[in-house]
Amino acid sequence: MAIEETDSQVILTHPDNKTTSVSILKYGATIFSWKLEGKEQLWLSTAAKLDGSKPVRGGIPLVFPVFGKNDSDELLSKLPQHGLARNSTWEFLGQIKSNPPTVQFALNEKIANPELTALWKEKFNLILTVELGKDFLKTDIEVENSSNQRDLQFNWLFHTYLRIPDIEDTMVSNLTGMTFYDQLIKETIVDKHPVVSFNQETDVIYQNVDSDRVIQVVNQGNPIHTVKRVNLPDTVVWNPWIAKSAGMGDFEPKTGYKEMLCIEPGHVHDLVKVAPGQKWQASQIISKDALNYQAI
Ligand code: BG6
Repeated sequence: MAIEETDSQVILTHPDNKTTSVSILKYGATIFSWKLEGKEQLWLSTAAKLDGSKPVRGGIPLVFPVFGKNDSDELLSKLPQHGLARNSTWEFLGQIKSNPPTVQFALNEKIANPELTALWKEKFNLILTVELGKDFLKTDIEVENSSNQRDLQFNWLFHTYLRIPDIEDTMVSNLTGMTFYDQLIKETIVDKHPVVSFNQETDVIYQNVDSDRVIQVVNQGNPIHTVKRVNLPDTVVWNPWIAKSAGMGDFEPKTGYKEMLCIEPGHVHDLVKVAPGQKWQASQIISKDALNYQAI
C-alpha cells in the first residue's frame, strides 16, 4: 500500500521502490524520515519527541508565521520562537496523486494550537503538499489569507535537517557572493568564500539568493544533497556544534551535530504580505544531482 495512515502519522511508500518512503507526523506536519532506496536522508535526534509534547528535533519542522523571535512586529512579537505551525496538529486531507505519491495537510486558526492562536489572532489557511518522487522529495506550501479585512504578514521556512556523514568533511556550494546575516555576531557580511565550510557553530541567514542558485551539500567532493527553492529567497545555514548541542535537552546523541546540517529555505529576511483573500505559494525540492558549481 502506497499510503498508510495511523492516528499520529502518515507514511508514503514509492510504488516503484518499497525502500523509498517518507514519514510525516500529523503534529507539525513534520516529515521525520525520508528514505531513498533504504538510505535515510534526514537527521532526527534520538531524543526527539514524536508524541506532540514539543516540536520535533530533526526532520523538516515547518516555521510559520515567525522565524526565530520577532521583537519589533506588533502582532508577531507575542509568539514563541519559530511560531505555531510546528507545534500544532495538522489535518490530514488525504492523497491527491498516486505516482509520485502525493498527500496534503491543512492548518488554520480554528484547529491550530489554541495557546498560540491566542497570541496571534490572524485568519489563515495553510496547505502543505508532500510529493515523494523516485529520487526527490518536494514540499510545497500555500498560505491563504482568509481574512476579508486585513493583510496577513508572516515568515515561512522549511527547517530541513539534512543527514551528512561528517560535518568537518562537508561543504555547501553556490552561496558565493551572497550576503548573509550572522545571527551569532549580529553582522551582515558578503560571502567571498568559494564554499561554506564548518569548524564551529554556524547560524547564518543568506538573503535574496536567486532561485536559479542550486544549493548543494558536498561531502568529500561528492554532492550528497541538492536543494532547489521556488519563491523562497532566503536560506538559513545552521549547525549547533558542541556547546549549543549540549544545551538542547532533545538533541541526542550530543555528537549528533557531526551528522547533521540544516539548510533551511525560507522567506525570513522580511515578511511576506498577502492581501485579504489572496494566496502565496512556495516550495523546496531535495534531490541527488551531479555537482553543479555555479561560479559567480
Ligand atoms: C535555526 C535558527 O533556524 O533554528 C537558530 O537559525 C536556532 O538560531 C535553530 O537555534 C533551532 O531552533 P529551535 O527553536 O528549534 O531550538
